[in-house]
Amino acid sequence: MSRTVYLNGEYLPEAEAKVSIFDRAFLMADGVYEVTSVLGGKLIDFDGHLARLERSLTELDMPKPAAFDELLEIHRKLVELNGIDEGLIYLQVTRGAPGDRDFAFPDPESCEPTLVLFTQSKPGLADSPTAKTGIKVISIEDIRWGRRDIKTVQLLYPSMGKMMAKKAGADDAWMVEDGAVTEGTSNNAYIVKDGKIITRNLSTDILHGITRAAVLKFAREAQMIVEERPFTIEEAQQADEAFYTSASAFVMPVVEIDGAKIGDGTPGGVALRLREIYLDESRKAGI
Ligand code: PDD
Repeated sequence: MSRTVYLNGEYLPEAEAKVSIFDRAFLMADGVYEVTSVLGGKLIDFDGHLARLERSLTELDMPKPAAFDELLEIHRKLVELNGIDEGLIYLQVTRGAPGDRDFAFPDPESCEPTLVLFTQSKPGLADSPTAKTGIKVISIEDIRWGRRDIKTVQLLYPSMGKMMAKKAGADDAWMVEDGAVTEGTSNNAYIVKDGKIITRNLSTDILHGITRAAVLKFAREAQMIVEERPFTIEEAQQADEAFYTSASAFVMPVVEIDGAKIGDGTPGGVALRLREIYLDESRKAGI
């Protein structure tokens, strides 16, 4: 079935939505994005995603394509037009198509940003069978650029990381820099030791996950102890549990790292509890 997508003010059948070959995201990866999940037809953590979008735009000196209310309206309309009950909405803003290739940024007065949104229907996203068995990760070197806190569309290395994981018979890769885990290819990484949740502190080294912020808030509200600091792969392999968070997977248990079983090799209790709390609270707070 053809989706209805949004492009620069218009709702169009997906085959009719066309972007210029001079678009800066196509030529220079000069674009930022957000992925918001939909549960029961409602947007999850929407305010957080929009706040991060604004931050990404500001950090790259990119104009804002539309006001908060307008972006909310577009998200809601796409959910409705495409009948999304569970799934994702992808939003991308680029610096636009100046009509030629040039390293220098175009004048924002004469070059409008490109705004694209589309939906991905994923029935069963919340009741994922994978979350019941957990996933396996490998470790790879983190060779990405130094501003990973900005959610840009430069995703070649994370894509390569996923392929390295697949080739090794695993599901994902956790990236390591200076001996410590930064994050997963498209998620934030956590371990649990003696009941304590350990996850890397925020900096320019990692994306400031919106799901991370919500999950840590719920964990603290449930009297769990959270320690925000870097950890090594060896520490992770000796942990009681491991998991990751993202808008597309919520809280996902990790049961194997570089071939070593974590705990008893099944999803841990803390991860499963946080997944349940996150899903319950998100459904209640969805807009
Ligand atoms: N990825 N770290 C990286 C590198 C990511 O790409 C993502 C999200 C996260 C988790 O952030 P959040 O909780 O806000 O989704 C962490 C999205 C889902 C993606 O690229 O599809």
